[in-house]
Amino acid sequence: MLSAKTISIVKSTAPVLEENGELLTRHFYARMFKNNPEVVPFFNRANQSAGSQQKALAAAICAYAANIDRLEVLGGAVELIAQKHASLQIKPEHYPIVGENLLGSIREVLGEGATEDVVQAWGEAYDFLAGILMGREKQIYHEHASTPHGWEGFKPFRVLRKDVESEVITSFYLAPADGSPVPAFKPGQYITVRVPTPCGHPAMRNYSLSDKPGQPWFRISVKREAARDAHTPDGFVSSFLHEGVQVGGHLEVGPPCGEFFLDVTEHHPRPLVLLSAGVGITPVLSMLHAALEHTPERNVIFVHGALNGRTHSFRKAVRALAAKHPKLSVHYRYSDPEESDRAQGFFDSEGFIDAELIESLVPDRDADFYFCGPKPFMVKIYRQLVRWGVPASQVHLEFFGPRQELENDHVTADV
Ligand SMILES: Cc1cc2nc3c(=O)[nH]c(=O)nc-3n(C[C@H](O)[C@H](O)[C@H](O)COP(=O)(O)OP(=O)(O)OC[C@H]3O[C@@H](n4cnc5c(N)ncnc54)[C@H](O)[C@@H]3O)c2cc1C
Ligand code: HEM
Repeated sequence: MLSAKTISIVKSTAPVLEENGELLTRHFYARMFKNNPEVVPFFNRANQSAGSQQKALAAAICAYAANIDRLEVLGGAVELIAQKHASLQIKPEHYPIVGENLLGSIREVLGEGATEDVVQAWGEAYDFLAGILMGREKQIYHEHASTPHGWEGFKPFRVLRKDVESEVITSFYLAPADGSPVPAFKPGQYITVRVPTPCGHPAMRNYSLSDKPGQPWFRISVKREAARDAHTPDGFVSSFLHEGVQVGGHLEVGPPCGEFFLDVTEHHPRPLVLLSAGVGITPVLSMLHAALEHTPERNVIFVHGALNGRTHSFRKAVRALAAKHPKLSVHYRYSDPEESDRAQGFFDSEGFIDAELIESLVPDRDADFYFCGPKPFMVKIYRQLVRWGVPASQVHLEFFGPRQELENDHVTADV
Protein backbone atom coordinates (compact mmCIF):
# COMPACT_ATOMS: atom_id res chain seq x y z
CA MET A 1 0.00 0.00 0.00
CA LEU A 2 1.04 3.58 -0.47
CA SER A 3 2.02 5.52 2.65
CA ALA A 4 -0.07 8.44 3.94
CA LYS A 5 2.86 10.74 3.10
CA THR A 6 3.00 9.56 -0.54
CA ILE A 7 -0.76 10.00 -0.91
CA SER A 8 -0.63 13.47 0.56
CA ILE A 9 2.29 14.59 -1.69
CA VAL A 10 0.65 13.20 -4.83
CA LYS A 11 -2.68 14.82 -4.00
CA SER A 12 -1.07 18.18 -3.30
CA THR A 13 0.91 18.24 -6.57
CA ALA A 14 -1.84 16.77 -8.75
CA PRO A 15 -3.57 20.14 -9.41
CA VAL A 16 -0.38 21.65 -10.91
CA LEU A 17 0.06 18.63 -13.15
CA GLU A 18 -3.62 18.69 -14.05
CA GLU A 19 -3.33 22.34 -15.03
CA ASN A 20 -0.31 21.48 -17.16
CA GLY A 21 -1.61 18.05 -18.12
CA GLU A 22 -1.33 18.42 -21.86
CA LEU A 23 2.07 20.06 -21.66
CA LEU A 24 3.22 17.25 -19.37
CA THR A 25 2.13 14.46 -21.68
CA ARG A 26 3.33 16.21 -24.83
CA HIS A 27 6.71 16.57 -23.19
CA PHE A 28 6.47 12.95 -22.06
CA TYR A 29 5.76 11.60 -25.56
CA ALA A 30 8.52 13.63 -27.21
CA ARG A 31 10.96 12.41 -24.58
CA MET A 32 9.87 8.77 -24.67
CA PHE A 33 9.81 8.49 -28.45
CA LYS A 34 13.34 9.96 -28.57
CA ASN A 35 14.76 7.82 -25.74
CA ASN A 36 12.81 4.64 -26.47
CA PRO A 37 11.85 4.44 -30.15
CA GLU A 38 10.95 0.77 -29.62
CA VAL A 39 7.57 1.83 -28.12
CA VAL A 40 6.61 4.09 -31.07
CA PRO A 41 4.75 1.32 -32.99
CA PHE A 42 2.27 0.85 -30.13
CA PHE A 43 0.83 4.30 -30.62
CA ASN A 44 -1.69 5.34 -33.25
CA ARG A 45 -0.15 8.24 -35.15
CA ALA A 46 -3.55 9.70 -36.02
CA ASN A 47 -4.46 9.85 -32.30
CA GLN A 48 -1.12 11.52 -31.68
CA SER A 49 -1.77 14.17 -34.34
CA ALA A 50 -5.25 14.81 -33.05
CA GLY A 51 -3.86 15.21 -29.52
CA SER A 52 -6.29 12.63 -28.14
CA GLN A 53 -3.74 10.30 -26.63
CA GLN A 54 -1.90 13.19 -25.03
CA LYS A 55 -5.15 14.09 -23.34
CA ALA A 56 -5.93 10.45 -22.53
CA LEU A 57 -2.75 9.81 -20.62
CA ALA A 58 -2.71 13.24 -18.98
CA ALA A 59 -6.25 12.69 -17.77
CA ALA A 60 -5.47 9.20 -16.53
CA ILE A 61 -2.58 10.51 -14.48
CA CYS A 62 -4.63 13.34 -13.04
CA ALA A 63 -7.62 11.12 -12.30
CA TYR A 64 -5.30 8.69 -10.62
CA ALA A 65 -3.71 11.42 -8.57
CA ALA A 66 -7.04 12.88 -7.56
CA ASN A 67 -8.35 9.46 -6.52
CA ILE A 68 -5.22 7.90 -5.18
CA ASP A 69 -6.87 7.21 -1.82
CA ARG A 70 -10.08 5.78 -3.37
CA LEU A 71 -8.90 3.61 -6.18
CA GLU A 72 -12.22 1.82 -6.42
CA VAL A 73 -13.63 4.76 -8.42
CA LEU A 74 -11.09 3.94 -11.13
CA GLY A 75 -12.29 0.34 -11.38
CA GLY A 76 -14.03 0.68 -14.76
CA ALA A 77 -11.15 2.69 -16.17
CA VAL A 78 -8.66 0.01 -15.18
CA GLU A 79 -10.59 -2.62 -17.13
CA LEU A 80 -10.90 -0.37 -20.21
CA ILE A 81 -7.17 0.46 -20.17
CA ALA A 82 -6.03 -3.09 -19.43
CA GLN A 83 -8.13 -4.48 -22.31
CA LYS A 84 -6.76 -1.79 -24.64
CA HIS A 85 -3.18 -2.48 -23.50
CA ALA A 86 -3.66 -6.23 -23.91
CA SER A 87 -5.05 -5.70 -27.42
CA LEU A 88 -1.80 -3.91 -28.31
CA GLN A 89 0.49 -6.39 -26.49
CA ILE A 90 1.75 -3.94 -23.85
CA LYS A 91 3.91 -6.05 -21.52
CA PRO A 92 5.52 -5.57 -18.06
CA GLU A 93 8.87 -4.64 -19.65
CA HIS A 94 7.23 -1.55 -21.15
CA TYR A 95 6.13 -0.11 -17.80
CA PRO A 96 9.56 1.05 -16.60
CA ILE A 97 10.05 2.83 -19.94
CA VAL A 98 6.83 4.80 -19.50
CA GLY A 99 7.55 5.31 -15.77
CA GLU A 100 11.05 6.72 -16.24
CA ASN A 101 10.03 9.07 -19.02
CA LEU A 102 6.95 10.18 -17.10
CA LEU A 103 8.98 11.01 -13.99
CA GLY A 104 11.50 12.89 -16.13
CA SER A 105 8.64 14.94 -17.56
CA ILE A 106 7.09 15.55 -14.12
CA ARG A 107 10.47 16.95 -13.02
CA GLU A 108 10.46 19.30 -16.02
CA VAL A 109 6.90 20.53 -15.52
CA LEU A 110 7.08 20.99 -11.75
CA GLY A 111 10.49 22.69 -11.97
CA GLU A 112 11.63 23.69 -8.49
CA GLY A 113 8.52 22.02 -7.05
CA ALA A 114 9.97 18.65 -8.07
CA THR A 115 11.81 17.94 -4.84
CA GLU A 116 13.18 14.46 -4.22
CA ASP A 117 10.16 13.68 -1.99
CA VAL A 118 7.75 14.71 -4.75
CA VAL A 119 9.50 12.70 -7.46
CA GLN A 120 9.72 9.69 -5.17
CA ALA A 121 6.03 9.93 -4.28
CA TRP A 122 5.03 10.07 -7.95
CA GLY A 123 7.34 7.16 -8.68
CA GLU A 124 5.62 5.10 -5.99
CA ALA A 125 2.20 6.16 -7.22
CA TYR A 126 3.07 5.22 -10.82
CA ASP A 127 4.42 1.83 -9.71
CA PHE A 128 1.24 1.25 -7.73
CA LEU A 129 -1.08 1.89 -10.71
CA ALA A 130 1.29 0.03 -13.03
CA GLY A 131 1.06 -2.94 -10.66
CA ILE A 132 -2.74 -2.92 -10.86
CA LEU A 133 -2.71 -2.70 -14.67
CA MET A 134 0.02 -5.31 -15.11
CA GLY A 135 -1.87 -7.65 -12.77
CA ARG A 136 -5.07 -7.39 -14.79
CA GLU A 137 -3.19 -7.60 -18.10
CA LYS A 138 -1.44 -10.78 -16.97
CA GLN A 139 -4.86 -12.35 -16.33
CA ILE A 140 -6.12 -11.23 -19.75
CA TYR A 141 -3.05 -12.69 -21.51
CA HIS A 142 -3.60 -15.90 -19.59
CA GLU A 143 -7.27 -15.96 -20.64
CA HIS A 144 -6.23 -15.48 -24.28
CA ALA A 145 -3.77 -18.34 -24.16
CA SER A 146 -5.99 -20.72 -22.17
CA THR A 147 -9.29 -20.21 -24.10
CA PRO A 148 -9.89 -23.22 -26.37
CA HIS A 149 -8.31 -22.36 -29.76
CA GLY A 150 -7.04 -19.13 -28.23
CA TRP A 151 -3.56 -17.68 -28.62
CA GLU A 152 -1.34 -14.94 -27.29
CA GLY A 153 0.17 -12.24 -29.47
CA PHE A 154 -0.54 -12.06 -33.18
CA LYS A 155 -1.52 -14.98 -35.39
CA PRO A 156 -1.81 -15.17 -39.19
CA PHE A 157 -5.39 -15.26 -40.47
CA ARG A 158 -6.58 -15.84 -44.03
CA VAL A 159 -9.26 -13.71 -45.67
CA LEU A 160 -12.07 -16.12 -46.59
CA ARG A 161 -14.50 -13.60 -47.98
CA LYS A 162 -14.79 -9.87 -48.61
CA ASP A 163 -18.32 -8.43 -48.80
CA VAL A 164 -19.16 -4.86 -49.72
CA GLU A 165 -21.82 -3.79 -47.19
CA SER A 166 -22.26 -0.20 -48.40
CA GLU A 167 -20.36 2.49 -50.27
CA VAL A 168 -18.13 2.99 -47.24
CA ILE A 169 -18.06 -0.31 -45.31
CA THR A 170 -16.64 -3.67 -46.37
CA SER A 171 -16.69 -6.87 -44.29
CA PHE A 172 -13.76 -9.25 -44.06
CA TYR A 173 -14.31 -12.87 -43.01
CA LEU A 174 -11.15 -14.16 -41.35
CA ALA A 175 -10.06 -17.64 -40.23
CA PRO A 176 -6.74 -18.88 -38.79
CA ALA A 177 -4.30 -19.66 -41.60
CA ASP A 178 -3.26 -22.88 -39.80
CA GLY A 179 -6.78 -24.26 -40.19
CA SER A 180 -7.58 -24.20 -36.46
CA PRO A 181 -11.06 -23.04 -35.35
CA VAL A 182 -11.65 -19.49 -34.10
CA PRO A 183 -12.08 -19.12 -30.33
CA ALA A 184 -15.24 -17.94 -28.59
CA PHE A 185 -15.62 -14.23 -27.93
CA LYS A 186 -18.15 -12.04 -26.18
CA PRO A 187 -20.52 -10.13 -28.49
CA GLY A 188 -19.32 -6.53 -28.59
CA GLN A 189 -15.59 -7.32 -28.32
CA TYR A 190 -12.93 -6.30 -30.84
CA ILE A 191 -9.83 -7.86 -32.36
CA THR A 192 -6.61 -6.13 -33.35
CA VAL A 193 -5.33 -6.16 -36.91
CA ARG A 194 -1.62 -5.56 -37.47
CA VAL A 195 -0.42 -4.53 -40.91
CA PRO A 196 2.99 -3.58 -42.32
CA THR A 197 3.77 0.06 -43.10
CA PRO A 198 6.33 1.62 -45.45
CA CYS A 199 8.32 3.01 -42.48
CA GLY A 200 9.01 -0.50 -41.18
CA HIS A 201 6.96 -0.32 -37.95
CA PRO A 202 3.69 -2.25 -38.23
CA ALA A 203 0.42 -0.39 -37.52
CA MET A 204 -2.24 -1.84 -35.19
CA ARG A 205 -5.95 -1.04 -35.15
CA ASN A 206 -8.91 -2.44 -33.24
CA TYR A 207 -11.97 -3.71 -35.15
CA SER A 208 -15.18 -4.88 -33.49
CA LEU A 209 -16.39 -8.35 -34.38
CA SER A 210 -19.63 -7.78 -36.27
CA ASP A 211 -20.92 -11.36 -36.55
CA LYS A 212 -22.18 -13.51 -33.71
CA PRO A 213 -19.81 -15.75 -31.74
CA GLY A 214 -19.72 -19.42 -32.76
CA GLN A 215 -19.22 -18.92 -36.49
CA PRO A 216 -16.25 -20.55 -38.25
CA TRP A 217 -14.80 -17.06 -38.82
CA PHE A 218 -14.23 -13.67 -37.31
CA ARG A 219 -16.00 -10.99 -39.29
CA ILE A 220 -14.88 -7.39 -39.15
CA SER A 221 -16.66 -4.62 -41.02
CA VAL A 222 -14.39 -1.73 -41.83
CA LYS A 223 -15.24 1.80 -42.86
CA ARG A 224 -12.79 3.30 -45.30
CA GLU A 225 -11.58 6.47 -43.55
CA ALA A 226 -11.10 9.06 -46.23
CA ALA A 227 -8.82 12.06 -45.69
CA ARG A 228 -10.58 14.80 -43.72
CA ASP A 229 -9.10 17.50 -45.95
CA ALA A 230 -6.35 18.16 -48.48
CA HIS A 231 -3.73 18.30 -45.71
CA THR A 232 -4.44 14.92 -44.13
CA PRO A 233 -3.76 11.45 -45.51
CA ASP A 234 -6.40 8.74 -46.01
CA GLY A 235 -6.81 6.46 -43.00
CA PHE A 236 -3.85 4.10 -43.30
CA VAL A 237 -5.13 0.71 -42.12
CA SER A 238 -8.71 1.01 -43.40
CA SER A 239 -7.46 2.01 -46.89
CA PHE A 240 -4.92 -0.81 -46.79
CA LEU A 241 -7.69 -3.30 -45.95
CA HIS A 242 -10.15 -2.00 -48.54
CA GLU A 243 -7.67 -1.70 -51.36
CA GLY A 244 -4.73 -3.94 -50.53
CA VAL A 245 -6.27 -7.04 -48.95
CA GLN A 246 -8.06 -9.56 -51.14
CA VAL A 247 -9.70 -12.95 -50.58
CA GLY A 248 -6.91 -15.48 -49.95
CA GLY A 249 -4.65 -12.77 -48.48
CA HIS A 250 -3.30 -12.87 -44.94
CA LEU A 251 -3.56 -10.56 -41.93
CA GLU A 252 -2.03 -10.70 -38.47
CA VAL A 253 -4.75 -10.78 -35.82
CA GLY A 254 -4.68 -10.37 -32.03
CA PRO A 255 -7.20 -12.14 -29.74
CA PRO A 256 -10.64 -10.68 -28.90
CA CYS A 257 -10.52 -7.98 -26.22
CA GLY A 258 -12.75 -5.32 -24.72
CA GLU A 259 -15.05 -4.67 -21.79
CA PHE A 260 -18.04 -3.58 -23.92
CA PHE A 261 -19.97 -6.80 -24.34
CA LEU A 262 -23.43 -8.27 -23.89
CA ASP A 263 -23.73 -11.05 -21.35
CA VAL A 264 -26.11 -13.57 -22.86
CA THR A 265 -25.49 -16.21 -20.20
CA GLU A 266 -27.72 -14.58 -17.60
CA HIS A 267 -31.44 -13.96 -17.37
CA HIS A 268 -32.26 -10.35 -18.26
CA PRO A 269 -35.64 -9.06 -17.14
CA ARG A 270 -35.31 -5.69 -18.88
CA PRO A 271 -35.65 -4.86 -22.60
CA LEU A 272 -32.43 -4.54 -24.56
CA VAL A 273 -31.91 -1.29 -26.47
CA LEU A 274 -29.18 -1.30 -29.14
CA LEU A 275 -28.40 2.14 -30.56
CA SER A 276 -25.84 2.84 -33.27
CA ALA A 277 -24.89 5.29 -35.96
CA GLY A 278 -22.63 4.77 -38.98
CA VAL A 279 -19.91 2.16 -38.54
CA GLY A 280 -20.82 2.03 -34.83
CA ILE A 281 -23.28 -0.67 -35.90
CA THR A 282 -20.51 -3.34 -35.79
CA PRO A 283 -20.40 -4.31 -32.08
CA VAL A 284 -24.15 -3.92 -31.54
CA LEU A 285 -24.89 -6.09 -34.57
CA SER A 286 -22.94 -8.91 -32.95
CA MET A 287 -24.93 -8.29 -29.75
CA LEU A 288 -28.18 -8.34 -31.71
CA HIS A 289 -27.42 -11.75 -33.25
CA ALA A 290 -26.31 -13.17 -29.91
CA ALA A 291 -29.34 -11.81 -28.03
CA LEU A 292 -31.81 -13.25 -30.54
CA GLU A 293 -30.08 -16.63 -30.38
CA HIS A 294 -29.60 -16.93 -26.63
CA THR A 295 -32.40 -14.83 -25.11
CA PRO A 296 -35.22 -15.02 -27.71
CA GLU A 297 -37.83 -14.11 -25.08
CA ARG A 298 -36.25 -10.69 -24.54
CA ASN A 299 -37.67 -7.54 -26.13
CA VAL A 300 -35.00 -5.95 -28.31
CA ILE A 301 -35.18 -2.44 -29.78
CA PHE A 302 -32.62 -1.80 -32.50
CA VAL A 303 -32.20 1.80 -33.66
CA HIS A 304 -29.66 2.72 -36.32
CA GLY A 305 -28.77 6.04 -37.91
CA ALA A 306 -27.15 6.40 -41.34
CA LEU A 307 -26.61 9.18 -43.83
CA ASN A 308 -28.67 7.51 -46.56
CA GLY A 309 -29.23 4.21 -48.34
CA ARG A 310 -25.83 4.30 -50.04
CA THR A 311 -23.88 4.38 -46.78
CA HIS A 312 -26.28 2.21 -44.76
CA SER A 313 -24.78 -1.24 -44.03
CA PHE A 314 -26.65 -4.42 -43.02
CA ARG A 315 -30.01 -2.84 -43.86
CA LYS A 316 -31.53 -5.98 -45.34
CA ALA A 317 -29.89 -8.37 -42.88
CA VAL A 318 -31.34 -6.60 -39.82
CA ARG A 319 -34.79 -6.22 -41.41
CA ALA A 320 -34.72 -9.97 -42.17
CA LEU A 321 -34.03 -10.68 -38.48
CA ALA A 322 -36.99 -8.51 -37.49
CA ALA A 323 -39.24 -10.44 -39.88
CA LYS A 324 -38.26 -13.68 -38.10
CA HIS A 325 -38.22 -12.45 -34.50
CA PRO A 326 -41.44 -10.89 -33.16
CA LYS A 327 -39.61 -9.56 -30.06
CA LEU A 328 -37.28 -7.44 -32.21
CA SER A 329 -38.28 -4.00 -33.41
CA VAL A 330 -36.08 -2.05 -35.81
CA HIS A 331 -36.01 1.64 -36.62
CA TYR A 332 -33.75 3.25 -39.25
CA ARG A 333 -33.26 7.00 -39.31
CA TYR A 334 -31.46 8.76 -42.20
CA SER A 335 -29.94 12.20 -41.81
CA ASP A 336 -29.66 12.91 -45.54
CA PRO A 337 -31.96 10.55 -47.42
CA GLU A 338 -32.17 10.44 -51.20
CA GLU A 339 -35.35 10.25 -53.27
CA SER A 340 -34.68 6.61 -54.08
CA ASP A 341 -34.40 5.79 -50.33
CA ARG A 342 -37.84 7.31 -49.85
CA ALA A 343 -39.30 5.54 -52.86
CA GLN A 344 -37.99 2.16 -51.68
CA GLY A 345 -38.98 2.67 -48.03
CA PHE A 346 -35.43 2.11 -46.82
CA PHE A 347 -35.82 4.24 -43.68
CA ASP A 348 -38.44 4.94 -41.03
CA SER A 349 -37.73 8.55 -40.12
CA GLU A 350 -35.54 11.46 -41.08
CA GLY A 351 -32.96 13.40 -39.05
CA PHE A 352 -30.43 12.43 -36.40
CA ILE A 353 -31.15 9.99 -33.62
CA ASP A 354 -32.29 12.14 -30.71
CA ALA A 355 -34.05 12.06 -27.36
CA GLU A 356 -37.55 12.33 -28.83
CA LEU A 357 -36.99 9.36 -31.10
CA ILE A 358 -35.62 7.17 -28.32
CA GLU A 359 -38.39 8.26 -26.01
CA SER A 360 -41.01 7.30 -28.61
CA LEU A 361 -39.39 3.91 -29.28
CA VAL A 362 -38.45 3.06 -25.69
CA PRO A 363 -41.35 4.19 -23.53
CA ASP A 364 -40.11 1.98 -20.69
CA ARG A 365 -36.88 3.66 -19.65
CA ASP A 366 -35.99 0.75 -17.41
CA ALA A 367 -33.96 -0.95 -20.11
CA ASP A 368 -30.35 -1.99 -20.75
CA PHE A 369 -28.79 0.45 -23.22
CA TYR A 370 -25.78 -0.34 -25.45
CA PHE A 371 -24.62 2.27 -27.92
CA CYS A 372 -21.80 3.03 -30.33
CA GLY A 373 -21.29 5.74 -32.93
CA PRO A 374 -19.61 9.05 -33.66
CA LYS A 375 -18.89 11.53 -30.91
CA PRO A 376 -21.97 13.83 -31.22
CA PHE A 377 -24.24 10.76 -31.20
CA MET A 378 -22.49 9.34 -28.12
CA VAL A 379 -22.74 12.62 -26.23
CA LYS A 380 -26.41 13.10 -27.09
CA ILE A 381 -27.45 9.57 -26.11
CA TYR A 382 -25.40 9.54 -22.94
CA ARG A 383 -26.81 12.88 -21.74
CA GLN A 384 -30.33 11.73 -22.45
CA LEU A 385 -29.91 8.52 -20.47
CA VAL A 386 -28.49 10.46 -17.55
CA ARG A 387 -31.40 12.90 -17.74
CA TRP A 388 -33.79 9.96 -17.57
CA GLY A 389 -32.00 8.66 -14.51
CA VAL A 390 -31.02 5.34 -16.11
CA PRO A 391 -28.63 3.72 -13.61
CA ALA A 392 -24.97 3.58 -14.73
CA SER A 393 -25.09 -0.22 -14.55
CA GLN A 394 -27.62 -0.17 -17.44
CA VAL A 395 -25.61 2.20 -19.65
CA HIS A 396 -22.89 0.60 -21.81
CA LEU A 397 -20.94 2.31 -24.54
CA GLU A 398 -18.12 1.79 -27.00
CA PHE A 399 -16.28 4.62 -28.70
CA PHE A 400 -13.90 4.05 -31.61
CA GLY A 401 -11.20 6.28 -30.16
CA PRO A 402 -9.66 7.27 -26.84
CA ARG A 403 -12.43 7.51 -24.25
CA GLN A 404 -11.02 10.83 -23.10
CA GLU A 405 -12.48 12.48 -26.19
CA LEU A 406 -15.90 11.74 -24.72
CA GLU A 407 -15.01 12.52 -21.14
CA ASN A 408 -14.35 16.12 -22.14
CA ASP A 409 -18.11 16.14 -22.75
CA HIS A 410 -18.74 14.41 -19.42
CA VAL A 411 -19.54 11.04 -20.90
CA THR A 412 -18.15 8.76 -18.26
CA ALA A 413 -20.26 5.59 -18.29
CA ASP A 414 -18.28 2.48 -17.41
CA VAL A 415 -15.22 4.55 -16.55
C1 LIG B 1 -12.55 -0.59 -29.77
C2 LIG B 1 -12.55 -0.12 -31.20
C3 LIG B 1 -13.33 -0.79 -32.14
C4 LIG B 1 -13.34 -0.36 -33.46
N1 LIG B 1 -14.14 -1.01 -34.36
C5 LIG B 1 -14.19 -0.58 -35.64
C6 LIG B 1 -15.03 -1.23 -36.62
O1 LIG B 1 -15.73 -2.18 -36.30
N2 LIG B 1 -15.02 -0.76 -37.90
C7 LIG B 1 -14.25 0.31 -38.28
O2 LIG B 1 -14.27 0.68 -39.45
N3 LIG B 1 -13.46 0.95 -37.36
C8 LIG B 1 -13.40 0.52 -36.08
N4 LIG B 1 -12.58 1.16 -35.19
C9 LIG B 1 -11.71 2.25 -35.66
C10 LIG B 1 -10.40 1.63 -36.20
O3 LIG B 1 -9.65 1.07 -35.15
C11 LIG B 1 -9.51 2.68 -36.86
O4 LIG B 1 -9.32 3.74 -36.00
C12 LIG B 1 -10.09 3.18 -38.18
O5 LIG B 1 -10.21 2.10 -39.11
C13 LIG B 1 -9.17 4.24 -38.79
O6 LIG B 1 -7.89 3.70 -38.92
P1 LIG B 1 -6.98 4.06 -40.17
O7 LIG B 1 -5.64 3.46 -39.95
O8 LIG B 1 -7.69 3.77 -41.44
O9 LIG B 1 -6.90 5.62 -40.06
P2 LIG B 1 -5.73 6.45 -39.38
O10 LIG B 1 -4.52 6.39 -40.26
O11 LIG B 1 -5.62 6.04 -37.98
O12 LIG B 1 -6.38 7.89 -39.51
C14 LIG B 1 -7.59 8.22 -38.85
C15 LIG B 1 -8.02 9.62 -39.27
O13 LIG B 1 -7.02 10.54 -38.93
C16 LIG B 1 -6.58 11.24 -40.09
N5 LIG B 1 -5.11 11.37 -40.03
C17 LIG B 1 -4.20 10.38 -40.22
N6 LIG B 1 -2.95 10.86 -40.09
C18 LIG B 1 -3.08 12.18 -39.82
C19 LIG B 1 -2.16 13.23 -39.60
N7 LIG B 1 -0.86 13.02 -39.64
N8 LIG B 1 -2.67 14.47 -39.34
C20 LIG B 1 -4.01 14.68 -39.30
N9 LIG B 1 -4.92 13.72 -39.50
C21 LIG B 1 -4.47 12.49 -39.75
C22 LIG B 1 -7.01 10.42 -41.29
O14 LIG B 1 -7.30 11.23 -42.40
C23 LIG B 1 -8.25 9.74 -40.78
O15 LIG B 1 -9.39 10.53 -40.99
C24 LIG B 1 -12.55 0.75 -33.86
C25 LIG B 1 -11.75 1.40 -32.91
C26 LIG B 1 -11.76 0.98 -31.60
C27 LIG B 1 -10.91 1.71 -30.60
C1 HEM C 1 0.29 3.39 -15.14
C2 HEM C 1 0.54 3.38 -16.41
C3 HEM C 1 -0.43 3.67 -17.55
C4 HEM C 1 -1.63 4.34 -17.56
C5 HEM C 1 -2.34 5.01 -16.40
C6 HEM C 1 -2.13 4.31 -18.92
C7 HEM C 1 -3.32 4.89 -19.34
C8 HEM C 1 -3.86 4.78 -20.60
C9 HEM C 1 -5.14 5.30 -21.03
C10 HEM C 1 -6.10 6.09 -20.15
C11 HEM C 1 -5.32 4.99 -22.33
C12 HEM C 1 -6.53 5.33 -23.23
C13 HEM C 1 -7.52 4.18 -23.26
C14 HEM C 1 -8.71 4.47 -24.19
O1 HEM C 1 -9.50 5.34 -23.87
O2 HEM C 1 -8.83 3.82 -25.24
C15 HEM C 1 -4.15 4.26 -22.74
C16 HEM C 1 -3.95 3.79 -24.02
C17 HEM C 1 -2.72 3.35 -24.45
N1 HEM C 1 -1.62 3.07 -23.67
FE1 HEM C 1 -1.45 3.27 -21.68
N2 HEM C 1 -1.23 3.64 -19.70
C18 HEM C 1 -0.19 3.24 -18.90
C19 HEM C 1 0.92 2.52 -19.31
C20 HEM C 1 1.23 2.25 -20.62
C21 HEM C 1 2.44 1.61 -21.05
C22 HEM C 1 3.56 1.08 -20.14
C23 HEM C 1 2.41 1.58 -22.41
C24 HEM C 1 3.48 1.02 -23.30
C25 HEM C 1 4.07 1.64 -24.25
C26 HEM C 1 1.13 2.17 -22.83
C27 HEM C 1 0.68 2.30 -24.11
C28 HEM C 1 -0.60 2.66 -24.48
C29 HEM C 1 -1.07 2.66 -25.87
C30 HEM C 1 -0.25 2.30 -27.09
C31 HEM C 1 -2.41 3.08 -25.85
C32 HEM C 1 -3.34 3.28 -27.04
C33 HEM C 1 -3.01 4.61 -27.64
C34 HEM C 1 -3.47 4.79 -29.03
O3 HEM C 1 -4.58 4.40 -29.39
O4 HEM C 1 -2.67 5.35 -29.76
N3 HEM C 1 0.46 2.57 -21.71
N4 HEM C 1 -3.29 4.14 -21.67
